[in-house]
Amino acid sequence: MSEVSTVDGRTVRVALLGCGTVGREVARLLTEQADELAARAGAPVELAGIAVRRPDKHPELPRHLLTADAGALVESDVDVVVELIGGIEPVRGWLLSALRKGKSVVTANKALLAEYSAELSEAADAAGADLYFEAAVAGAIPLLRPLRESLAGDRITKVMGIVNGTTNYILSAMDSTGANYAETLEEASRLGYAEADPTADVDGYDAASKAAILASLAFHSRVTASDVHREGIAGVSSFDIAAAKALGRTVKLLAICERVTADDGTESVSARVHPVMIPRSHPLAAVGGAFNAVFVEADAAGELMFYGQGAGGAPTASAVLGDLVAVARNRVLGGRGPRESAHAALPVRPHLQTPTRYHISLDVADRPGVLAQVAHVFAAHEVSIAAVRQRDRTSTASLVIVTHLAPEAALEATVEEIGKMDVVHEVVSVMRVEGED
Ligand code: NDP
Ligand code: HSE
Repeated sequence: MSEVSTVDGRTVRVALLGCGTVGREVARLLTEQADELAARAGAPVELAGIAVRRPDKHPELPRHLLTADAGALVESDVDVVVELIGGIEPVRGWLLSALRKGKSVVTANKALLAEYSAELSEAADAAGADLYFEAAVAGAIPLLRPLRESLAGDRITKVMGIVNGTTNYILSAMDSTGANYAETLEEASRLGYAEADPTADVDGYDAASKAAILASLAFHSRVTASDVHREGIAGVSSFDIAAAKALGRTVKLLAICERVTADDGTESVSARVHPVMIPRSHPLAAVGGAFNAVFVEADAAGELMFYGQGAGGAPTASAVLGDLVAVARNRVLGGRGPRESAHAALPVRPHLQTPTRYHISLDVADRPGVLAQVAHVFAAHEVSIAAVRQRDRTSTASLVIVTHLAPEAALEATVEEIGKMDVVHEVVSVMRVEGED
């Protein structure tokens, strides 16, 4: 390897906060690829310290670098803080302190960014520091930089994708084996795909944080996790999966972020996370296992798709290292990365106004006039029916109804009223439909 040429002989000193699944891979790559990273950054990138909760549990790491005092490491003589601990506090305080002192921050912490991105960005801007977070959404996939930089001259209208590997693994397995949700979650935990506490994944919190980050970047507005309508996958039954299969569809947990233009021309943002049926021919349907994939639609660019490993130590470390090189370059050459862009300040549209399509399965009494009664309820709520399929059983009939687009509120009210009808024995499954024009 040829000798690294550095700008004014300086070194970029890095504090690594957290050395777990992702942090340990970052530390490894920083050490193993030190020469290449220095060549790309324009100066050696040196690990100045590693903060962990229990230093005695890390015999693999150089003792002189280890500390349990992350706050003191942040305050020490470092240029960049790489945060891979996770959660809100005390991390938020440490990162704000670092940014206010002009130290750049690289983080993979979607939970923090989805709530406090504005505060962190303001602190970074005030001090002229960088805040990079490519690894926070979709792990290794270069997605946030394209949204922040490559597509900065375009008008993005929609970002829709699979941004949680755990739930995608579970839904893919349910689809291929026919097993139910509980069995599949157990298998996912046994194989190490689901975390010991899978709540953030299966209840959609992780995907909602990512949707908030994506919507903020795509639509130049501030969207937080609490603005995102969220439903998880615990209610997805093997019946839902079979019903989707029977219609040439599959079930995915999608994050859907849209720019919505009202009839009077005013714009707003819609951001939601919930299970949906998509056609098997849709590119997202083929994304199996723990992989992530995100569809972006922009006025000039058209449709783009980003695909790859959305989690895991090494894949996520790749995104962190990419950010670290960018931040180090900026420090060495005196530039800055992109600042927060929230100039559009679009409001978030209430979820109940979102136009969507429903797939509804009902067990109904099998006698004349039942279909007409059910159809009447749809009409009363101004929900147009796109397709109806009926299968007879002994004394009941199984009715599958797919609607055209209607506001979420009208669809919810329709399902509620149908559920109370004497002729309806059971509302077996209700699922939204996406990806069909
Ligand atoms: P881990 O739980 O594996 O690691 C967390 C690390 O933080 C551990 O080294 C732990 O120390 C350390 N830590 C915890 N509390 C403190 C504290 N108070 N002071 C100092 N150190 C502390 O997390 P991951 O590596 O999985 O995730 C890190 C971040 O990356 C999170 O924000 C996560 O959301 C994000 N992320 C993770 C992905 C993944 O695939 N795992 C993918 C994309 C993003 P100790 O080792 O002593 O316990
Ligand atoms: N728990 C997350 C997932 C990790 O399953 O996708 C990546 O953020």
